[in-house]
Formats: sequence, structure tokens, C-alpha cells
Amino acid sequence: MAVKQKSVWYCSDCGHKQTKWAGQCSQCSNWNTFQEEIEIKSTERRFESQPKANSKPVRLKEISLTKTPRIKTFINEYDRLIGGGQVPGSLTLVGGDPGIGKSTLMLQLSAALAMQGLIVLYVCGEESVEQTSMRAERLGIETDNLLLLSETNFSLIKAQIEHVKPDILIVDSIQIVYKAEITSSPGSVSQVRETATEFMHIAKGHGITTFLIGHVTKSGEIAGPRLLEHLVDTVLYFEGDKQQNYRMIRVVKNRFGPTDEIAVFQMQSKGLVEVPNPSQVFLEERRKENVGSVIIPTIEGTRPILIEAQALVTETFFPTPSRRSAGLDPNRLALLLAVLEKRMGFQMHKCDVFVSIAGGMRIVEPGLDLGILVAVASSMRNKRIDPETVIIGEVGLGGEIRSVTRMESRLKEAIHMGFSRCIIPSRNVKGLSDELKNKINIVGFDVVDDAVRALLN
Ligand code: TYD
Ligand code: MG
Repeated sequence: MAVKQKSVWYCSDCGHKQTKWAGQCSQCSNWNTFQEEIEIKSTERRFESQPKANSKPVRLKEISLTKTPRIKTFINEYDRLIGGGQVPGSLTLVGGDPGIGKSTLMLQLSAALAMQGLIVLYVCGEESVEQTSMRAERLGIETDNLLLLSETNFSLIKAQIEHVKPDILIVDSIQIVYKAEITSSPGSVSQVRETATEFMHIAKGHGITTFLIGHVTKSGEIAGPRLLEHLVDTVLYFEGDKQQNYRMIRVVKNRFGPTDEIAVFQMQSKGLVEVPNPSQVFLEERRKENVGSVIIPTIEGTRPILIEAQALVTETFFPTPSRRSAGLDPNRLALLLAVLEKRMGFQMHKCDVFVSIAGGMRIVEPGLDLGILVAVASSMRNKRIDPETVIIGEVGLGGEIRSVTRMESRLKEAIHMGFSRCIIPSRNVKGLSDELKNKINIVGFDVVDDAVRALLN
């Protein structure tokens, strides 16, 4: 085998490559992420993909639309998340912090698929076969079609795949698998990228539905799953606080269905359990008499979810006030504080501001703005917001309240959860049906000043 060697530097977060070390990555702007690796150009052939009979161009019109049936896992939340079931032969990346529940979910999925008669090969490189089987026992899994393989050397895994010919392949985790030909350690950028590419060829060439598990790490010693996102068909990320029992799984990329969809699970003693009504869960621990608390109907993917935003504003004794946010974009918060200061004369520069979304949800949708702004104002003035009211709206730099999408679904969810009043952007009021208007008291506003004054009186 002809081999050429040279030293290169890789960003362990985004995989950016350069020939010299640097403190900051020029692509993703992260600090101290560069790791040195020996790059090897090997001439060894990759896993052969099977020659396809139709490797000549076909007219679009001539393609018969025999839809490949999706593989249903019958874990309803999961099936809905990925657009109605797993597509056979697809490659999925499952990312998340260590200990958040990736292995648990994959083992539960394996069991659900194996029960349907599919052969599942679970490569558990991180744990021994005994550990994984103990976990399977805890989860109550009994099936003959689930095969466990404790191996981290790629060539040996490949040999077993060729031998077993599984329908489903799970690699737990991609950061532990290595190719002996590459000198850098398992988990380095070149190892992760190379082995993942090999698994992609296996998935596509042999029609094996493949899942790669990837840990998200902050330290930068092992390469993050982000650098594999372009390679795979579907990217799922676990979100949520490890201390809390709720786990959100978000679709970041999906070649076969909608993105930004989320599924909510709860970690229990027998594994992950679906939460079909997340609004109820997120509002469960709410105290109605709290100051600085606002309920906001948001849209995550296709489904409306009610969340509670909490704000705490305190006077600061330091020249630079502190701003902390959990679950929302800090830049967005800074903008809302500036609007409050400019439009309403609130002296935000003298205050520390803490804002969080209860339950560990992370929300990027603009419909959150007005609710957050009102929560801050409520804490600032020490006046609570009527607990039967929900608030929706995007806030512009001029303090105007902008319309948001999917207003009807948001309102329906608020009605479903028993709220009696909804503050929304004026422009959204016109399009609403009378039926909805009869069920909930809808109040439209054009600018934040009017809304805040009306709510804090
Ligand atoms: P795990 O799936 O091992 O995380 P990951 O693979 O993402 O690193 O999840 C580990 C956590 O889940 C661990 O703290 C124990 C907890 N857990 C339960 O609470 N109940 C269960 O049934 C299982 C299997 C795990
Ligand atoms: Mg694990």
C-alpha cells in the first residue's frame, strides 16, 4: 500500500483543516480546538458499493414512484419525529452530551426493530457486551434478532457486517471506532471522518439502515459530531438538562422529512418514555403567583408547545451588569433589553437580568420575543402577569410587534390548555376565525409600550 505522510491541524469542532496551528479556528471561531494529526493518503480501496444496473441517466418522467415503505419503529414520538418512520438504507447521526440517553434510545429502537424480524447489529464499542446486555435486561428487551458486538477496530467490524448481513447497524459510538491504517488516535478528526465515510458506503452500498452515535464534547480532545453532519441523511440531537428528566430530540437535518421537529421523552427507570403532551409537562411545576413568569405558545417544527419563560431582574452594584439566559439566544435577549430601555425608559443598564425557559427547552423561534420582554418588565416592576394570559409576538428594533406564523395552532394549544386570554400582534388578529375568537379572548397590540402598560396595570 502506497502511503504518504504529512502533519496537519484540524479543528476538533468543525473539522476545518490547516497546515499550521492557530489559537482560534477561522471557520467556526472557537478557541483552542486545533489538534495535530498525521495525515495519511492511503490507496486502499474503500468498501465496494454494489454496482447498480441503472447507473445511466434516466428521465425524471420515467421514474416510477414506487415509494419505499418506511420502517416503523412503533415508538410513535420517534416515528413522527423523522417523518413517519426510518427510511431503509439511510444513515442517521445521533448526537448529544455524554450520559443524556443516546445508548438507551438506540437500544430501545433496536429492540423495537428486532421484534419485527429485522436483524440488528449493535456495535457497543464503549461498553462491554455484558454491560449492554444488563442495560437491555433493565429495559425488558428479549429478542433473538439483536446481536451485540464489542469491537472498535473498523476492519473487524466490517468483517462482522459482511458475515452477519444485518438490516440495521448501530455504531455506539463513532468516536471510539478506529482504522488501524490511520496513526492518529480514535476520536480524532481524521479517524472520525474516515470511519464515518466507510459506514456511509456500507449503508448506501448494501442498503443497511445505519445509526452513528456521536458525543458532543466541550473539551475539544475528541472530534464532535458536527463535522459529520454533511455526510449523513438525518441528524438528531438530544437536548435538555441531564439533571432534569426530560429529553428533547431535535431533527437538525433530514433528507426525508421536515427539520426542526422535536420529540419529548422522559428518562425513567425503564428507559425513555414518550411524552405525548409536552405543554402539560412544561407547565406542571409552574407557580401562578410568580412575578416575572409568562406563558408563551411557541412552535417547534410542526407542533405547538406552551412554555414558561421566567425572568429575574435585580439591581447591580457592578459597572457591567450581568445578562444570563438559558434556552434562548443571548443576542436576542440583549436586543429586547435595549428596546425596553429605549421605548419605555426602563433602566436596564443598572440591573442584572436572568432569563430562562423552564424545563430545559431551547427555543430559537421569534414568536418568543414579546413574552420574554414582558417577563423582564414584570420582574422589573415586581408585578405579576395574569396567570390565565398567554403572550405571542416578535419584537422589532423600533419596538413594533410583528406578526408570527401559525397563529391558529398556537391559539388552539392555549385553548386546549385552558387559558382564557391571549396577547398577539395586531396584524395577526384579522386572519382569525370567529370560532377561535369565541373560545379565547384575543387582544392585539402594535407596539410593545402599549402591551407592557396594559399587562402591568
Ligand atoms: P445513556 O443512554 O448511557 O447515555 P449516553 O449513551 O448518551 O451516554 O444514558 C445514561 C443515563 O440514563 C444514566 O445516567 C442512567 C440513565 N438511565 C435511566 O435513568 N434509566 C434507564 O432505564 C437507563 C437505561 C438509563
Ligand atoms: Mg452511551
